[in-house]
Amino acid sequence: MKALILSGGKGTRLRPLTYTGAKQLVPVANKPILWYGIEEMAAAGITDIGIIISPETGAEVKSKTGNGEKFGLNITYILQEQPAGLAHAVQVARPFLKDSPFVMYLGDNLIQQGDLKSFLDKFTQQQPEALILLREVPNPSAFGVAKVDEKGRVLQLIEKPKIPPSNLALVGVYFFSPLIHDAISLIKPSARGELEITDAIQCLIDQQQQVVACNLDGWWLDTGKKDDLLEANRLILDTCLTKSILGDVDTKTQIIGRVQIGAESKIINCTIRGPVVIGNNCYLENCFIGPYSSIADHSTLIETDLEHSVILEGAKITGIQQRIIDSLIGQRAELTIAPRRPKALRFLIGDDSQIELT
Ligand code: DAU
Repeated sequence: MKALILSGGKGTRLRPLTYTGAKQLVPVANKPILWYGIEEMAAAGITDIGIIISPETGAEVKSKTGNGEKFGLNITYILQEQPAGLAHAVQVARPFLKDSPFVMYLGDNLIQQGDLKSFLDKFTQQQPEALILLREVPNPSAFGVAKVDEKGRVLQLIEKPKIPPSNLALVGVYFFSPLIHDAISLIKPSARGELEITDAIQCLIDQQQQVVACNLDGWWLDTGKKDDLLEANRLILDTCLTKSILGDVDTKTQIIGRVQIGAESKIINCTIRGPVVIGNNCYLENCFIGPYSSIADHSTLIETDLEHSVILEGAKITGIQQRIIDSLIGQRAELTIAPRRPKALRFLIGDDSQIELT
């Protein structure tokens, strides 16, 4: 059994963060989203993993993630020159996949830890040509959607339908036998110009091949947008964070609940109410850090109130007089109160940024 994790694509929905980096490397609870998928593979006992990368962000994905040693598995990187679709990525990966069955995992999806193994066992026992995971969602038009009969058999799969036949979305985790390669060779690019894996699975259904659908009961998030990413951060902090204080915390600081503070970090006169994770080499002074906040390495926060937010590496926030909530602050971004007159707002904001002022 092999695994193919997709970490290419354009990442348009998470701009501006994805102008300078891969969306799959944006951290959730201070760990790149992509690594959760890799760890799921390791936990399910899969050791041979191919990762699809793009020319734009491939080098960064490779240098951060490495050869797989730190996860206890082997990683082969596979370059996809163009983001021409999920089925195209499988085509490009054929020399790696050979005729092995495989699990395909979209690198920006997060599923509840430990869930993959049970579906892998089902796939191995039943040996269908494809096993897909379905989940009820409130906005099915944003996903691949399944129409199933009363016995749960899949009748039809449609990619991002305007009028969805159900509210059952295709989760970005699929199990395939090598027959999927024949199906992919029969499909044509969709209206958005991509070779859709949804169409390839539909092709298997049309050929009356066995396609099994399972409902995913645990949580699942497609971290494509800011609010999904904040929700993923909340869920991971809620379910996985354990208390650990490595940095230097002064006596005036109050730490409540599950809080992680990394090595070489300095915390002075702060109140930190978990679950909160603070990385290495951070400096926090006179701050309130509220639940569901993740602060990455090398960040500085002074006189700041923060809650339910994700702060990326090297960001600097000082003296903001209102509480910051539901925010995603990019690498090395600076938010400060200007000491000079006239009192005014001064910005240097990247393309596609979103600012809400009151
Ligand atoms: O998240 C679940 C949804 O994922 C499914 O419901 C849809 O049926 C499926 O098509 C897919 O839709 P998205 O529009 O969310 O896919 P996206 O373009 O965001 O790509 C998913 C991942 O695959 C992302 O990590 C980027 C990567 N990718 C994407 C393309 C198009 C590649 O590596 N290569 C590609 O060519």
